[in-house]
Amino acid sequence: MKHVQLHDKRFKLSIPSEHIQGAISAMGAQLSKDLEGDTPLFLGVLNGCFRLAGDLLANYDGPCDVTFVKVASYEGTRSTGEVKRIIGLDVPVKGRTVVVMEDIVDTGHTIEQILYDLEGRGAEKILIATLLFKPKAYKGHVPMDYGALEIPNDFVVGYGMDYDGLGRNLNDIYVLDEDHHMKNIILFGPPGAGKGTQSALLTERFEMVHLSTGDIFRANIKGETELGQLAKGYMDKGELVPDDVTIRMLEAEVLKHPEAKGFIFDGFPRTPAQAQALDVFLESKGTHIHQMIALEVEEEELVQRLLERGKDSGRADDADESVIRNRIRVYEEQTAIVAEHYDAQDRFTAVDGIGSIEEINERLAKIIA
Ligand code: IMP
Ligand code: MG
Repeated sequence: MKHVQLHDKRFKLSIPSEHIQGAISAMGAQLSKDLEGDTPLFLGVLNGCFRLAGDLLANYDGPCDVTFVKVASYEGTRSTGEVKRIIGLDVPVKGRTVVVMEDIVDTGHTIEQILYDLEGRGAEKILIATLLFKPKAYKGHVPMDYGALEIPNDFVVGYGMDYDGLGRNLNDIYVLDEDHHMKNIILFGPPGAGKGTQSALLTERFEMVHLSTGDIFRANIKGETELGQLAKGYMDKGELVPDDVTIRMLEAEVLKHPEAKGFIFDGFPRTPAQAQALDVFLESKGTHIHQMIALEVEEEELVQRLLERGKDSGRADDADESVIRNRIRVYEEQTAIVAEHYDAQDRFTAVDGIGSIEEINERLAKIIA
């Protein structure tokens, strides 16, 4: 399956070139037959129509005039809202048959304004020839006289149509690939809840990138970087590394993976300020957090798990029961409220964190999928 990437979005092949050409040749043949003996004016609506205009006219037999216009939007009164008018019309239309060539009719707002404008200029007969038509989005009243292909209400590009300027040169038509939208998950929960273990399994399954602030800090401590030295003092006591340090580091990590299909954030955000900073940052990248999933495990089980892990993980903060209890307390006092931030956005789910690794992984995978 062919895909294209335009700016931040991925599109998949929807209508191949041969299919487009077949539809346009049928449309051209029908117009040639219907307009025999007439000399119509073919009026293309730029920019999107440039491909259709070329191919449709190549399939039209009789004599005809060809011209192009653009549609300009004006801010109307409150009751009329946005008003569209055609500009650049350099041929008289009075008394003539006009075939309006459009790449796509969506809500129909544009085409209705064009018809209104042409009627005002005295066109005798106005026909619409559009390559694509979205019946589910259409709010207009006039029928598509020569509507070649009906498509669902999804965003398409190619064959003249663009996404933010790109894609007009493509020979095929592509549709927005919703499945490949980024998925950004926060795996949430107290220390020992199983976030790291589960993240590792989920990243494999969903081809996402796992970002654990704890792991990044530990790598920096091991590498004796400046950041590592700064973080070590806090982490050894079971306290949080300050927000500004953590946020800057995390943003740098996200930017290292421009092709990622999504991120699993593990151990971040740990404070409401971090959550806010993350929202603003992701928004600037055209995405957001899709779900915070909390693993729920009660305190005594957490302490047992961490002491067990401390026996061979070598983590200073897992060796000492009082440091462990302090981490859990810091979670309850400073971090647990981050859940409210995502709950308020309707993006929070709690999951039972007790059970086998596989069982818990299934619970999480179901939510992500
Ligand atoms: P309408 O006024 O809602 O019918 O929109 C018509 C115009 O919106 C088209 O001429 C296109 O420029 C643009 N448009 C609508 N849907 C799409 C799409 O799926 N892809 C690209 N452009 C679109
Ligand atoms: Mg258009």
